[in-house]
Amino acid sequence: MTHRLTTLLSSETIAARVKELGAEIAKAYSGKKLVLIVILKGSFLFAADLCRAIELRDLRVDFLGVRSYGEGTETSGVVQITQDLSRPIEGEDVLIVEDIVDTGLTLLHLTDLLRTRGPRSVAVCALLKKPTRARTAVDIDYLGFTIDDEFVVGYGLDVGERYRNLPYIAMVERD
Ligand code: IMP
Ligand code: MG
Repeated sequence: MTHRLTTLLSSETIAARVKELGAEIAKAYSGKKLVLIVILKGSFLFAADLCRAIELRDLRVDFLGVRSYGEGTETSGVVQITQDLSRPIEGEDVLIVEDIVDTGLTLLHLTDLLRTRGPRSVAVCALLKKPTRARTAVDIDYLGFTIDDEFVVGYGLDVGERYRNLPYIAMVERD
């Protein structure tokens, strides 16, 4: 299958916003210990850039592998944990790093799951949000961009596991 891709956010636009988010996060967690929880796979590039923009001495990075059932462009809201965190988060300030929030169901599930492990705080940083579809009220503490209700790929995001390696974010249309 071929896809028509139209650039939505250039790598320069993304980089500038990621720098701002990093500075905002560093300020908010100044003097604290922070654990970034990177939601795989979609957030791996965003997190790689974001963590380097957060000037904190006491920052730890951990990964949570998640899969939404199905291969299509709709989330079922049912998420499967494919890889758990490597360490406990009890008493820690954690920041979930997510690529995109659509219905919010994935994020709701993840924040509920992490809260059962007794962290001191749970906050969310998402690169992208689609506002029109939000079915559940999830708080996003740090947000990169609000986009229209388009399916997007690149910078970690995929359709059927493709296009994660694009350095920019594009809207996808099927030919
Ligand atoms: P939600 O549970 O509906 O909020 O969906 C969130 C998850 O669905 C994200 O973490 C992505 O993995 C995936 N997703 C939602 N919209 C897109 C998109 O436009 N492109 C790629 N993946 C998406
Ligand atoms: Mg994701």
